[in-house]
Amino acid sequence: TPAEAPKPPVKEIIRKTITGYVGFANLPNQWHRKATAKGFAFNLMVCGESGLGKTTLVNTLFAKSLEDQGVLPSKVDKGIGPEVPKTVEITNITANIEESGVRCRLTVVDTPGFGDYINNDLAWRPILDNVEKRFNDYLDAENAPTRTQLRNLETDKRIHALLYFIQPTGHSLKPIDIEVMKRLCDRVNLIPVIAKADTLTDDEVNTFKARVRADIEHHGIKTYKPEENDYDDEDTIMENREFMAKMPFAVVGSLTQIELPGGRRVRGRKYPWGVIEVDNEDHCDFVKLREMLVRTHMEELKDRTAQTLYESYRTEKLMAMGISQDASVFKEISPQAKLEEERQLHEAKLAKMENEMKLVFAQKVAEKEQKLRQSEEELYARHREMKEQLEKQKQEIEQKKIRIEAGTPTMEVKTGKRGKFSLGR
Ligand code: GTP
Repeated sequence: TPAEAPKPPVKEIIRKTITGYVGFANLPNQWHRKATAKGFAFNLMVCGESGLGKTTLVNTLFAKSLEDQGVLPSKVDKGIGPEVPKTVEITNITANIEESGVRCRLTVVDTPGFGDYINNDLAWRPILDNVEKRFNDYLDAENAPTRTQLRNLETDKRIHALLYFIQPTGHSLKPIDIEVMKRLCDRVNLIPVIAKADTLTDDEVNTFKARVRADIEHHGIKTYKPEENDYDDEDTIMENREFMAKMPFAVVGSLTQIELPGGRRVRGRKYPWGVIEVDNEDHCDFVKLREMLVRTHMEELKDRTAQTLYESYRTEKLMAMGISQDASVFKEISPQAKLEEERQLHEAKLAKMENEMKLVFAQKVAEKEQKLRQSEEELYARHREMKEQLEKQKQEIEQKKIRIEAGTPTMEVKTGKRGKFSLGR
């Protein structure tokens, strides 16, 4: 009998409680150092009907950082006159801002307000196209042979949050708002805000908020909700609750500095009955919105964009190209699987190109055939016509011949040079 194969030595796992300092407690610091050195990028989009104060609000939100740098063209009425220029196309405004040594590349995407056109049915189209194009560009960067671009902050142009401006009507949501939000909510972290909240009283704001929340629920619009995790601490839980309680944020935008009776200068809007302060939490939710966007939830908004919204776009796109993917492998993709996926993607692209070329070829052949058929028909028609003409001439000559033979006197007989003669009446 063959000798039995030697058994591999049993490896024992050594379980010990570490008494000394190893150093992995420093991991968060390592991460912090790296992240700070690299910097952060945040892309915010604003959208909604025309004249609801979108540009004014982003100016107000990042006023100190952007206005001072002259990056955001201010179009708020700072006594310049009643004419405030409209946003007419999707505009990107990018600024590198720094706070306590932390660098952030902030991009604000201002979209033209809709509602001005007779047909607003497709108002969402350019906005959704823009959001998806950003996903697509990122997907291309991921699938590029060299993926070094991905380390560049500028490559990530994906929209991390979208502020949707609702007109402060005091009634319910308009059909256009419902349509646009429905179309966008699967692709962006949708944060609805009630615009120009200073035009409503506190009670009206609360009633309107309740109606908007009910409408959103009723129409199945998925707005951004902070994620609840088991490891969340008290502060995070409180912050998330406050966030949900304020939704949709009632905001007021203004860069105008107003001097209050006590001499305090505030940003706000002045009315005969008093001043609405932008930065006062008792007056509006502007501060809460800014805190949520910048101080407490920026990273979560980015995470959700990358891990949920972009992932589902990516899956849909790859599926549409005929590449099926097991959702469970998203988290940990082996290099081999990645290569295989890239190969498939490349092949799918080639197949698509081939198909397109075939289509173009078939179309060209069809066009040529059509032209040939047409000229053939024309040729036939001409041939028929000539035949008919000849037939007619033949008949005429026949008749003339009969007349001559019958001896009918003709009116004139001309003798030609070559002795020929012609007959005519
Ligand atoms: P489009 O470019 O057409 O999309 O407009 P927009 O939504 O960017 O509005 P914009 O910021 O140009 O503001 C339009 C007008 O509303 C300006 O006269 C602003 O001064 C005024 N406005 C902006 N925010 C507020 C606000 O919170 N309350 C009030 N009452 N007026 C505001």
